[in-house]
This record gives sequence, C-alpha cells and structure tokens, in this order.
Amino acid sequence: MAAYISEDVIEEIRRRADLVDIVGAFCETKKRGQDYWACCPYHKEKTPSFKINAQRQVFYCFGCKKSGNLFHFVRDMLNTDFVGAVEWLAQRLGITMRYAQSDINPAEHNEKRRRHEEGMRLLQESAIHFRMLLNSPEAEAARSYLRARGIDQEAIEKFGIGYAAKSWDELLEWGQNAGFKPETLVETGLCIRKEGEKEHCYDRFRNRLVFPICDSLGKVVGFSARILDDDPKSPKYVNSPESEFFQKGSILYGLHLARTEFAKQGYALLCEGQMDVIACHQAGLQNAVAAQGTAFTSEHARLLKKSTSEVHLAFDGDQAGSAATLRTIGILLEENLACNVIALPENQDPDGIYRIGGSQALKQMMSQHEPAVPFAFRMACKDKDLQLPEDKSAVVTEVLNFIARIPDTVARTAHAQWLAQQLRLPENVLFDSLQAIIRQHLQASQRQSSYQQREAQAPLSPAFAPAQPAAPPPFSMPEQHFNDASRPMLLNILDMIMHFQLCAQKMLNCSDVQKLIPDNPLGHAINLVLAACEQEEWQMAEQNLADSELVNDPDIGRVLAESGYRHLDPEQKKDLVILEKAMQDCQNRLRLLELNEKISALQSQLQGADAETGRLLLQEYQKLSESKNQLKKSLAACS
Ligand code: UTP
Ligand code: MN
Repeated sequence: MAAYISEDVIEEIRRRADLVDIVGAFCETKKRGQDYWACCPYHKEKTPSFKINAQRQVFYCFGCKKSGNLFHFVRDMLNTDFVGAVEWLAQRLGITMRYAQSDINPAEHNEKRRRHEEGMRLLQESAIHFRMLLNSPEAEAARSYLRARGIDQEAIEKFGIGYAAKSWDELLEWGQNAGFKPETLVETGLCIRKEGEKEHCYDRFRNRLVFPICDSLGKVVGFSARILDDDPKSPKYVNSPESEFFQKGSILYGLHLARTEFAKQGYALLCEGQMDVIACHQAGLQNAVAAQGTAFTSEHARLLKKSTSEVHLAFDGDQAGSAATLRTIGILLEENLACNVIALPENQDPDGIYRIGGSQALKQMMSQHEPAVPFAFRMACKDKDLQLPEDKSAVVTEVLNFIARIPDTVARTAHAQWLAQQLRLPENVLFDSLQAIIRQHLQASQRQSSYQQREAQAPLSPAFAPAQPAAPPPFSMPEQHFNDASRPMLLNILDMIMHFQLCAQKMLNCSDVQKLIPDNPLGHAINLVLAACEQEEWQMAEQNLADSELVNDPDIGRVLAESGYRHLDPEQKKDLVILEKAMQDCQNRLRLLELNEKISALQSQLQGADAETGRLLLQEYQKLSESKNQLKKSLAACS
C-alpha cells in the first residue's frame, strides 16, 4: 500500500517555511531592495545571479535559468524527490509528518475538497450579505455608531464592514435560501448548533457590526463582530471560532490590503485591534495590520517576513500593552525582523488618537519610535537602581534574553556591545553571559523538539488522499501548433496579465488570441491566470502559479521572479498607454504568426490544386494577405 504525504502537511510547510531562510541554509544570501540574491548553488559563479522573490517564495537564476519554489529548491539541493524534500522540510520545521494511505477513498477526498470550497463561497457571500444589511433601515444604529467612531464610507467599502441583524436566524434563513446547507453554516462558524439538538441552529453574530477577516490573499475566512451598545454583560467582540477555515494564529487583519504598502513605507505597522488598523488606513498609514487581540505568533512573524524586513509596533501604552510589546519583540527578533516600538501614551490606542486628533496627530505619534533593544533596556531599568550590582545583573540578564534570540551573529554582537556601553561593563563579560544564555535557549529548544518527536509518534490524524490531477485548462491549442517564434510574445503576455489585472481582462476579451494559446507549460500558466481572472480571483493567480509545478519551467520562473514591466504604474496615464500598447503589440504579433502559418499552408495547397479550388484558395489567400498587411501597419504604428 503506497503512502502519500497528506496535503495539510504540505500546506503547513508552505505557510511556515520561508524560502529565503531555506536558501540561506545552503548559501549566503544578500538583500537588495525587495529581493534576496545569492551565488547560485546550482552552478559555479562569483557574482550572485540567483534571485529569490520573498513575497512569492520562488527563485530564479539568471545564469543557469533554474527556477522553482521551496519544494523544487530542496528537492534539487538534496538530490532527492518531492517526498524527500517534504520530509526534510517537515523535520526542519518541527512539523509532524502525516501520510495518507492510497486506499483512502478518492471520492471522500473530493467530497472534502468540495465542502471546503462550498464553505469558502458561503463566507464570501455572507460578507456581501452583511455589507448589504448595513444599508437597511434596521441598521441605522450601526451606521450612526460608525459615524460616531469616525469610520468613513471609503473605509466601510475598503474593509467590507457590515451588519448582522438583531435576530436569531436572519443569516440562517438567508443562507438556506441561497442554497447552503445548515452544516456548512455551522462549519464556517456563522451559525451555532443548539446543544444536543442536531437539527437546530442559530446565528452566531447578532445585532453587531461585522468585520470580515481575510487571509493574505484577500479571501474571507471569518468574521469579528463588535457590540454596538457596549453592554458589559456581553463580550465586546464575538469572533469566528477556530476551524479549517479560520486560524487566528496565522492571520493578520488587513494584510492583503497592507502588503504592497510595506515596500513603499519600508516596514509593517503592527497594531492590536481592527479599529486601529482602520484608523491607520484612514490616516494614510496603509501599512497597518493587526493580530486581533490574540498573542502574536512566530507564524504571524513569518507572514510579515515574506513581504518586509522591518516592523513597527503600536500597541496600547498601558501595562498590558507593554508586556505584549516585549513578548512580540522577542518573536520578531527571533525571525530576524528589525523591530521598532512606537511610544503611545498610557491607555491610548491608534484609533483613539485618530478620533481625537485626526490624521495629523496619528501620523505624528506613529513617526516617533525607538529601536526594540533600547526599548527593552528602558523597560528593564524601570524600578531598578543601576548603582546596585544585583539590579545591574538583573537588567543584563533581561536584555540579553532578547539579544540572544537574534539569529544574525553580527547584529547580536553589536547589540551586546551597545548594552555594555550603557552599563559601563567590559564587553567580554557581556559576551560570556550572552553565550551562556544562548546555550540555555538551545537546551530548551532541544527539549521542545524531543517533545515534538514524541508527539510525532502519536496516532495519525485524518489525512487527505493525494491531489487529483488539475482540471484541463480552458481554451488550449495542441502544442505542435506553435513554434518557438511565439514564445517571447507569450512570455510577455504572461508577464503583463500576471502583474496587471487590466491586461488579464483585456486578454479575456480577445477570444481570437485565446485560441492561439498553446498546450504547453507556458500556455497552461497563461490559462491559469486567465481562468482566475474570469472567476474574479485574479489576485490569487500569481501565488497559485508560484505554488504550482509550472514555476519549475525556467521561463515561467523568470517572469515570476522579475516582471519586465515592474517600473510601470497603470494609475499613471502615460504608463497605462504604454501597457495597453505593449499588450496590443504582443497580441498582434501572435495574430501575425498565425496568419503567416495559414498563408504558407495555403501556398503549398495551391501548388497541387485544380482550377476551381485554386480560385477559392486564391481568394482566401488575398483575404489573409490583406489582414496581414493591416496587422503589419498597426504594428508599425505601434512601434
Ligand atoms: P481592544 O479591547 O483593544 O479593542 O482589543 P479595540 O480594537 O480597541 O476595539 P474598540 O476600539 O474598543 O472598538 C483588541 C482586539 O482584541 C480582540 C479584537 O480583535 C480587538 O480588535 N478582542 C477584543 C476580541 O477578540 N474580543 C474581545 O472581547 C475584545
Ligand atoms: Mn480601541
């Protein structure tokens, strides 16, 4: 009986691993701009041409043209197969391997997948439903609450804020009328099953403001619902329960909206609650995200690390807030993220500051920050007398506990030197203490991993069968139809439709060009993007491609690693014109190639044709030639 790796292990690796780290385990990487570069581990070279796109988690070597994702990298570095790569990664990340036996019923697997998709659709549609309810007469109190909190229409749209009716079964009824089963409503956390009664369910969110929570790709996975009247008997927020759809520990509120802004600002702004995120975005700080009141986890840190290398913390200025700040600093430093702390006044959160002082006040407040280690030092010195040797020792231990977690040796040493200066202590004393603390940490983590090993021998959890082959892509031509001449155009098209939604839409409108997409990996990649766009999931396409086998194709890998059009901003009129022209140009060149093929086919037919067929063929030939001339003219006009 063959064993397959269960899909959730692969998913977990994908979520938790960082390609930059993994490559870093094999060769030295350097950050340049948004990307990381290394001397290619696959061929000999002195200057780096191996590029890692940290956001998409793919690599491409401009020298030897190797490309792929995390799994390809490990597979090839270890000279193993896919299973070997997964096992190696799982072990490294402390993930328990789970296997599915091949006798697992594929129908069962399909059913599971179908149910998951159904749940995701329900979540998406109920977000729209809540959003519509916010416009209904009964939602007047909710609307005035939003006004009172200074949340404007633009923010309501951007965050999809909605309202859950004051009813036990409004959503249940709506969902059932929309064709969803009560089970799906319960599984997604929208409804609760009455204790002991299989048949009876009721709405979880009632008479509350509803904030949809999205995953990093912008898909709704859950909700957080705020009370309107601050009744002390009810919880302030009711949230979706943990489920296969919603896992708080790996979700950051606002990430899908903030991610592109991280690059522009150079860092992520980490707040506590969704109201803070919304206030920040309204004030123009669009790089704000929140862990939503739960403890910040390493998984959160790794999510951030995929798109930025620096985090600014803006937690409440109270005691609980600074405790959370210190905890979070430890986690961020451990993940090699640079970290700054914003000094908020006691008992104030970003949302409160925005409401009182507006955008100016919030921006001003957020611009004042202190690096994490000095902050930790300041906190450690509170209520201590540095004249007392015991107090001094306690401060050293406390701060070194943070410094010891920084993986980068140079940064770690520099921080220890700084601390020595602050306390007027010889550096080597601090280095000795630092080494001792690092050893302690190491022992603790070894204990932890032997615990995980024991856990690994626990009974298997229900697993998935191997993935089914993907459905055939839409609109494909047989491979041999097109020769290599079309490849540069197709690559340009893939580049444009993957990076600019408007190009994908343009391409969807040209059914004649779609027919020219070949049945090869490049064609499949183009079709994957187009199909996603057609299903209004364009923003998922790039990541799906990065996670797929197709990224192993060197040309596709290159397009994923670097867009030839990255300097263009379609919001700018002149750039938009350039893009549209480039798209048109590629399409026309493809059409021209197709025409040339038809024409040469006609020419050979003409040779052996009788008079009557010859006349018809000639007519056809003239038509084609005319189209060809027109195309050539418009191509010339373009260039
Ligand atoms: P806060 O209590 O700081 O809430 O909790 P807040 O964001 O400032 O909300 P407002 O301004 O009072 O409306 C921070 C986060 O913790 C979670 C929420 O995600 C909240 O945004 N939380 C808080 C809950 O999940 N449940 C609660 O009962 C309270
Ligand atoms: Mn608040």
